[in-house]
Amino acid sequence: MALRTDIAAQVCAHRGAILHFRSDPGARDDPASFEFLEDGLLVTRGGHVAAVGPAQELLPTLPADVEIVGHAESILMPGFVDTHIHYPQTDVIGSGGRQLLDWLEDYTFPTERRFSDPVYAAAVGEFFLDELIRNGTTTAMVFCTVHRTSVDAFFHSAAARQMRMVAGKILMDRNSPEYLRDSVSSGEQDSRELLQKWHGHERLSYAITPRSAITSSEAQLQSAGQLAKEFPDALIQTHVAENLEEIAWVRRLFPQARSYLDVYDSYGLLRERAIYAHCIHFDQADRVRMAQSGAAAAFCPCSNLYLGSGLFDMAAADDAGMPFSIATDVGGGNSFSMLRSLGDAYKIAQLSRQHLSPLRAFYLATLGGARALGLEDRVGQFTVGAEADFIVLDLRATPLIARRTAQSRTLAEKLLVLMALGDDRVVSHTYVLGREVSVA
Ligand code: GUN
Ligand code: ZN
Repeated sequence: MALRTDIAAQVCAHRGAILHFRSDPGARDDPASFEFLEDGLLVTRGGHVAAVGPAQELLPTLPADVEIVGHAESILMPGFVDTHIHYPQTDVIGSGGRQLLDWLEDYTFPTERRFSDPVYAAAVGEFFLDELIRNGTTTAMVFCTVHRTSVDAFFHSAAARQMRMVAGKILMDRNSPEYLRDSVSSGEQDSRELLQKWHGHERLSYAITPRSAITSSEAQLQSAGQLAKEFPDALIQTHVAENLEEIAWVRRLFPQARSYLDVYDSYGLLRERAIYAHCIHFDQADRVRMAQSGAAAAFCPCSNLYLGSGLFDMAAADDAGMPFSIATDVGGGNSFSMLRSLGDAYKIAQLSRQHLSPLRAFYLATLGGARALGLEDRVGQFTVGAEADFIVLDLRATPLIARRTAQSRTLAEKLLVLMALGDDRVVSHTYVLGREVSVA
């Protein structure tokens, strides 16, 4: 630990092409929204960003003994922020091509059952965090299981790696196997204790986590809403409007509600720092309500395609002012790679006769995610004082990527090649608080 602190306290400089965002580039790639330095320098001190700018300007300001790490033929950027992912579903990825409700029943619930065992939970948590790092994801909003042991195991591993993570215990007291249910009182007590133990500890935040309006009783949704009121700076995460059969079931359970989203709204679960996964089958009133409340959507392209759930409407989200971020939704999503999620988001836009610009895509995967989580002053951009979580993307990662990026004339063209062809092979280095944590 002492050694790690010493290393982090040192000044270090990384030289190469640097890209980071100040705001959403929108549909028109607003040039004021990002900074791209062809030959840039990122200086870190004590695990935080000390300076970023053109190398020629900053190099003379550095003490002579500062190590300069060169990253040729690469782009440095803030680490990816994945706003919706399930660590216990690492072993569900690539399970048979069923739609949501069958997939949950046949694969997901039996797998999640195993997380009552803290040893198993810890082993999967370690594997999961290695995968995030391999894929350049330095912050994620994570579902654990209904078992409090699964949350303790995950947070212990994330704290040991000094990673900025958000996670929570699933609340689920009905319409699921008996072996995976909590009760209103045990769910509330476990959530409160876990929140008090982990929220704000090291770089960790707690998210109140009702799985869905199907799997929580009205009393449990009420209790989740109470917790959200009692702990206004905690986050909230859940699923909404993902699949048509799921929505029909919600309508039967809550006939008085205007929409699936309205169910959560009526229990006080719509507010800032609330992330709603999917938001596919929304109407415009739902999107406007999301925007008014300060909640954000997590668009999960790989999952939406893999489970055949539907096509998220980015243009309608923009029209309503509903913020959205990008997420893998492992294990409904079939990859940990945010690059592959961006590639699939691009294809979903194409299918909908819309366009996702590559610059905007990389904004969504970095600062856009950090903003959704209310963490933009800590991660997702290279402002001075921000935490130095960053990645290096190798423009020569494969022969094909090298060939196509060499032919690309603009930054946007290069980024599009990374989205279209890239995955974990492109992420050559991952840094957390200025320290390299890359896994083999
Ligand atoms: N809805 C309720 N639970 C889940 C889950 O685990 N994954 C997905 N994709 N949707 C859900
Ligand atoms: Zn999910």
